[in-house]
Formats: sequence, structure tokens, C-alpha cells
Amino acid sequence: MKPTSARIILCAFCASFILTLTPCFSKPVELRCEYLVNPLGIDAARPRFSWRLDDPAQGAGQVAYQIWVGSDSSGLLQGRALVWNSLKVVSNTTLLTYAGPALQAFSKYYWAIASWGIDGQRTVSAVANFETGMQKASNWKGAWISDTRDVNLKPAPYFRKTFDTNKSIRSARAYIAVAGLYELSINGQAIGNHRLDPMYTRFDRRTMYVTHDVTKQAQKGKNAIGVLLGNGWYNHQSTAVWFFHEAPWRNRPTFCLDLRITYSDGSVETISSGKDWKTALSPIIFNSIYTAEHYDARLEQPNWNQPNFDDAKWKTVILRPAPSTNLVAQVMHPIRDVEEIKAKSMRKINDTTYLYDLGRNISGVVSLRVSGAAGTRIRLRHTERLNAEGRSDMSNIDVHYRPTDNTDPFQTDIFILSGRGEERFMPRFNYKGFQYVEVSSNQAITLSENSLKGYFMHSDLPVLGKVQSSSSTLDKIWFATNNSYLSNLFGYPTDCPQREKNGWTGDAHIASETGLYNFDGITVYEKWLADHRDEQQPNGVLPSIVPTSGWGYEWGNGPDWTSTIAIIPWNVYLFYGDSKLLEDCYDNIKRYVDAISDRSQGHLTTWGLGDWVPVKSKAPVELTSSIYYYVDATILAKTAQLLNKKANYTTYSALATKIKDAINAKYLNRETGVYGNGTQTEMSAPLHWGVVPAELQTKVAANLAQRVKADGAHLDVGLLGTKTILNALSDNGYADLAYQIAAQEDFPSWGWWIKNGATTLYENWPIDAQSDISMNHIMFGEIGAWYYKALGGIKPDPAVPGFKNILLNPHFVKGLDRFQASFKTPQGELVSSWERTAQGVSYKVVVPPNSSASLSLELGPGQKVWSGGQVLVSEGKNGFVQNLRAGSYVYLIK
Ligand code: BGC
Repeated sequence: MKPTSARIILCAFCASFILTLTPCFSKPVELRCEYLVNPLGIDAARPRFSWRLDDPAQGAGQVAYQIWVGSDSSGLLQGRALVWNSLKVVSNTTLLTYAGPALQAFSKYYWAIASWGIDGQRTVSAVANFETGMQKASNWKGAWISDTRDVNLKPAPYFRKTFDTNKSIRSARAYIAVAGLYELSINGQAIGNHRLDPMYTRFDRRTMYVTHDVTKQAQKGKNAIGVLLGNGWYNHQSTAVWFFHEAPWRNRPTFCLDLRITYSDGSVETISSGKDWKTALSPIIFNSIYTAEHYDARLEQPNWNQPNFDDAKWKTVILRPAPSTNLVAQVMHPIRDVEEIKAKSMRKINDTTYLYDLGRNISGVVSLRVSGAAGTRIRLRHTERLNAEGRSDMSNIDVHYRPTDNTDPFQTDIFILSGRGEERFMPRFNYKGFQYVEVSSNQAITLSENSLKGYFMHSDLPVLGKVQSSSSTLDKIWFATNNSYLSNLFGYPTDCPQREKNGWTGDAHIASETGLYNFDGITVYEKWLADHRDEQQPNGVLPSIVPTSGWGYEWGNGPDWTSTIAIIPWNVYLFYGDSKLLEDCYDNIKRYVDAISDRSQGHLTTWGLGDWVPVKSKAPVELTSSIYYYVDATILAKTAQLLNKKANYTTYSALATKIKDAINAKYLNRETGVYGNGTQTEMSAPLHWGVVPAELQTKVAANLAQRVKADGAHLDVGLLGTKTILNALSDNGYADLAYQIAAQEDFPSWGWWIKNGATTLYENWPIDAQSDISMNHIMFGEIGAWYYKALGGIKPDPAVPGFKNILLNPHFVKGLDRFQASFKTPQGELVSSWERTAQGVSYKVVVPPNSSASLSLELGPGQKVWSGGQVLVSEGKNGFVQNLRAGSYVYLIK
């Protein structure tokens, strides 16, 4: 019988509950291993397991759990072939680390969770699974192979091998490690739907391998494996100011592959890369991750990856050393062609030129279908804007490119037709940032609006958050922010998808909360912080772009940018309640803080770029960089405390206090409550990052508000101030003013971009700026997080991270009639929504199961909070404060 009585008992304790008599079933759902659904190729010795509870009932939660991990799916719950049985553990955690005996390589494990709800009922999840990968380097059987060592050779190489099997296949896995990029096929069938695999790492320190289930493609009888390699960041042939063409790891792409077949009789055979493979050049005559791809369809070799293809003319391969000794499993959401976008319009300029407009700015590629005579040369020029004549304009994005000749035009694919009917082109080893595509040809071609389609590519993260409001501008800014966040996520966060594709650290830590409220980003951040660890110098210094070929150790890598090493692990901890990344980075954070200390004087540092691309005022670099020094020392001290490193906790909390005191001694006028010249960043950064002495907080906030009003409630900040201005106001009693800034529709504002047609965020506040005007930058994207934090009032509680307890403090700002933020926390769906009605403001909140929330509402003069027809608390000094358990609540504030 499903008990319902528990619901009634629970509901009685708080008058604000809406009574629901839902049957109780705290079912563990959405089981994840290493944050992925049934992943393959797990190398972690102690993988993490997480789940959510499906229970909408009031007060729902878990009081105990049990996990079973074993190798027999059907016998799991009967205790057959178990490797780990935690037995019943009294705990409300929904995140566990494997604690059984060592896992075996190449093994599938099944797991399930039992959860005891607060009513004592046990509910068992469905069975999930994960499969281990190589586990250790010595398990690889294949050799690293390539076709040549010539880094200047342009065409991409094909590789193939055939083999016979005479037994029936139970399962088959392909493990493929690549320095460069790859596409894998078996018997002519493309494997998987990932794009641009493997992810970009510092190849000479860490090389990734990907595991594919190829059971369906491998067959009894004759088989062919086909591999096509692209350059990616490994063999950067295009020349730009970042010196990627001089990367120490640079070489012709290479790979190592093991195809591990398990036959129905239980025997195992591994087919590997080695000297017996054949190679030839493909029709991809040029490929650059940075610029474009060139394809000559006349060079196609139909069926090159089929068993019966005649490869007699193909060459033998060469053996190559492994690019690094550190081969790691790629355990993350892959890059995909996530959205197909039809052209919004097409304009025929003449018989050889057509201009397509996708209607929105994206990162990705296009596909083109076209017929024409053999040898017809078609160029696809991708740009973000049009010039005065309405033609594609590259001038804002090719500024750091240093071509040595005209064979590699920027963001311009070249497609040479074979003349064999309708042909399709879509680049494989490149992506671009663009809205417009100018297609031009050396011979007349006929194209229609449907001939070209756009594909929005990015790391394909599950969506966690959604914002909706009564303001279409607000909703469009949110959409544009997410577009820019995703356009800049390709296994590492970038600054822009067109001009640079660089992993600029500052842009990424500023945008990390925006990312974490909206998307399930932990796998990408964990990978990117491993990239940081690979790049750290012995003296603790980190570069300003990660990964890097060596550029960035001398410029731009002060604490205002490269505090990624502390801020991102801390935010991941707050959002997921998982301290692994903090633990993994602890030593690196410490070495980075020590490196700042080495470069500081009197606990202040001038190391950094400062408030980048400001509207007009620029805060002193020493102020902003010292604040980030303080932030890092504080995170380090808190992490030391968390990890029980007592001596470090004492040392670094003392350091944090000294930095704070030094900042205040130099920049704060205690009489007036003004920092420096009192500009928006100078005032909001100390407030937001907790530098202002408690007794002066109200005064400093009032001065900031005055400054903002004097600025016409418009922004006067750059990158660093964008992070702090809205938060400093809304967290200190000026939410209406913050919203005024956020809702502006004239210059300078996010709304100004939107009014002018933006579908992404820009790099500069003026639309007609002469420099720094990429039209797809995430660096001003904090507003996306602010919607959740200030309007939805949703914040993680550092004392109980992972949204186990939610700090709820929504602001019903003037000028907005309706707002709703929903956010899937690690526990479940949280909804915070409000609307102005004739009776007052109706506020609804859904607290996820297994969570609590600390709600506080600031009340205006004479305002009261009602629920269920009763006044709960009238206006008080501290407003309305209530602790909520899981469930739905409705309040009326009038
Ligand atoms: C990038 C920025 C980055 C900056 C550092 C620019 O070129 O696009 O977003 O943070 O350099 O100054």
C-alpha cells in the first residue's frame, strides 16, 4: 500500500503548505555515474554515483540509502555477483564515491540505489550501468600510427584495415586515442554522433581517448575499420598571433586504436592499429580548426571504408611515439551538431553569388547541397555582420589572423565539385562563429533557400535552467546569454567562436555561474581544470589562455583572469556539493596564491588587466586584482578548512584578512564610504566580493546607488564590473535599481544590443566600436546568473552546498510584472516564480525533494505575507523569514 498519512502529518506543521495527498514514493531516478547516463570507458578508480528523488510530496526526502554494484544486471538486487554493497547507510546524500574493491578494466557494472523516504518506505531505482575503459596504459595493445611526419602536408589522411571474424559477436568496443581530430567508421558506417573528438588538451601532457560501442557495426565475416584524421589544435597550420603553429606538441595527426571484440563464446579478440594498416590522402585537402576546411570532391574514393575496397594503391603507415604518456578517458558530454537552423533568408546577388542569413549568430558549420560541373570552386564565407553594401563583412573578426598567403582565407570553406549530380559538403574538422554565409562560385550555380543549413555546434550539455518573464527584452537577453555561453563551449570555455577560440580564463570564471544555473557543466569544467593543472608552471604561474601552446604566461594572467583555478572549483562545489574538483586543484590553488604573494607588495598586487573593455571609467588594476587575490586566498582558506588542513586554513585566512585590510587601507575612504573615485566597478567589486567592512556596507552601497543614479541607471563597467554591479546592488537593498540597469534598452546596456537585433552577447558596449567587437562573447554574461540569483532569488548555501539547502531571496522588482526561474538542482526541480496580481504579489516556490530552503522576503512599509488566507508574519525588522522543507508553497505579499 502506498502510504499517504505521512503527507498529512508533515503538512500540518506549517500553515503555508498546500496539502497534497500524493502517494509516497521517494524513487531514486536519473542515476548518473561520473555525471553521465550509463557511460562507457570510465577510468576513475572510484567513480561517483548520483541520483535524484522523484517525489513531489511535501517534506519528501531520503533518510537512508543503499547501493549495489555488480556484474550481473538481473541478479543485482538478489546480491549475485556483487562487487560492492554499501548496506543501508543512514544519510540523505545523493552523491556517493565508489568504495568497493578495485574495478576491472573493460567491464560492465550494473548499479542500483535503494532510498528510504522520511516515512521509512524503501524504494528501489531502476538498474543503471557503467563500463570501465582501459584503466591503465599497459592495457593498450595498439601502436600509434600516422601517414607521415610532414606537418605542412595539407590533405587529411585516411587509414583503413580489414579483418575477418568467423564467430558471432556479443559486443564490440572501439577505444581510440587521437592527437588531432578523428572520424571513425566501421564497415562504412559512421560511429557515434560526436563532433570534433577528442577534446582539445595540452597534447604533450594529456591525450584523450574515446570509447564507442560498435557492436551494431562490427559483423561476422569481413570487416573494415576506417579512420579519418583532422589537424585540430594538434597540427595548427594557420598562422595567428597566438603561435599555435609553433606549439611544442605540433606534429602530423596520429592515433592509436583498439577494437575489442567479445564473441558469444566469451573469447576476446583485439584488432589494433599497427604497421599493417594502409593510408591514403582524403578529399579534405585542407583543414584548420581556426579558419576553415577545403574539400575537393573529385578526390573522393567511394567505399574507402568498406571491406571490399581495393586499397592496393594505398601506402603503409608509419609508427609514431605516443604524444604523451598520459592517456585519459574522455568522460564528458561531447560536442554535437545540437541544432539545425534553416536560413531565414537568401539573397541572390548574381549568378555566382548568394547571401544567406541564418537569422541568428551561432558557432558551428553549414552544410551545402549543390550541383554543378566538375571543378566548380565554391567558397563559403562566414561572417557575423554585413557591410554597408549588404555583403559579408569580416573586418571585426579576422584581426588576429596573420595569413602568409591567400590559400587559407579566414572562416571560408572551399568546396570543389566532382560534377556527379547533387553533392553535399559539411566541414568535419572546423567550426566558425557566424550569422551570414556568402556563397560564391567561379561558375554559375543555382541555389535555393534550402540549399544551405546551419548547425549550432557546442558541448551538448543537458539544460538545467529556464527563465521566463513578462519582459520580452529580459527573455531575449537570457536567450542571447545562453547562446553565447554555448557558442563558447567546445570541451573548454572560449572567448569567441570566430576570432580566437581561445580558452581565456577571465571570461570563463565570470560566466561560470551563468553556465551552472543553465547547464549541467561539471564534466567540462572538471576537464578544463585538469588542463589548468597541466599548464601550471613549477612556480605556480598559470597562463591567461588554457590550453596554450606557450602564449599567455607573460600577459593577461594575473588574478583577475586566472583565478579560474580557485573560482571554478569553488562554484562547482557550491552547485554540485561535490568537493572532488577542489581536492584535485587544492595544491594548484595554493601554488597560484603563493605566486601572487611573490608578486605582491604590502599584500596588494598590480598583476592583471583590470576592468576590460569598460564603457568609460576604468577602476585601478591594483584594486581589482587585489580583490581577486583576496577571493583566491579566501577560497583556499575555506577549502583548507573543508579538507581539514588546519595549518593552511590558519595561514591563508590570515593572509585573506591582510589583503582585505590592505585594500581598505589604500582604497576606502572610511569617512565618506567611497572606494577610489567611486566609479561603479570601484564600488561594486568590494561589495560583491566581501571586502567592505561590515559597519560600512550600508554606506558604501548607498554611495554605489547614488553613483548609478548619477550615471542615469546605466552601466559604466567593463568585464570585472559586469560581474559585480547588479549583484552588489540587489544584495544590498537596491534590487529595483539593479533591474533598471538590467532592463535598459538604450546605450550602454544588454537591451541596447537586443534592440539592435543581437541574438548573442557582444564584446563591447558600443555596437559600432572600432576594435574588440566580436559579436559572440560571453564575458558580459553574468546577467544570466543574476536573473536566477536576484529575481528568482536562488542561491546555493555554502554551509550545505549542492542546493541541499537553498537560499531563497527573490526580489519583486519594480517594472517587472512576472518572473519565473526553474532550475534543476542536484536534488530535483526548483521553481521560484512570482507575479503581480490585483491582490498583491503572488510568490510560488517549489522546493525539490530532499532539500530545504531558507526563504527571506524583504517587506516594504506596511506589507504583510499571507498564505492560505492567513497572515503569516507582518512586516518586521528583518522582513519575512521561513525555513521550508521540500514541497510547494504559495505566498501573497501585499
Ligand atoms: C579576448 C577577451 C579576453 C581578452 C584578454 C581578448 O582578445 O577576446 O575576451 O579576455 O583578450 O584581454
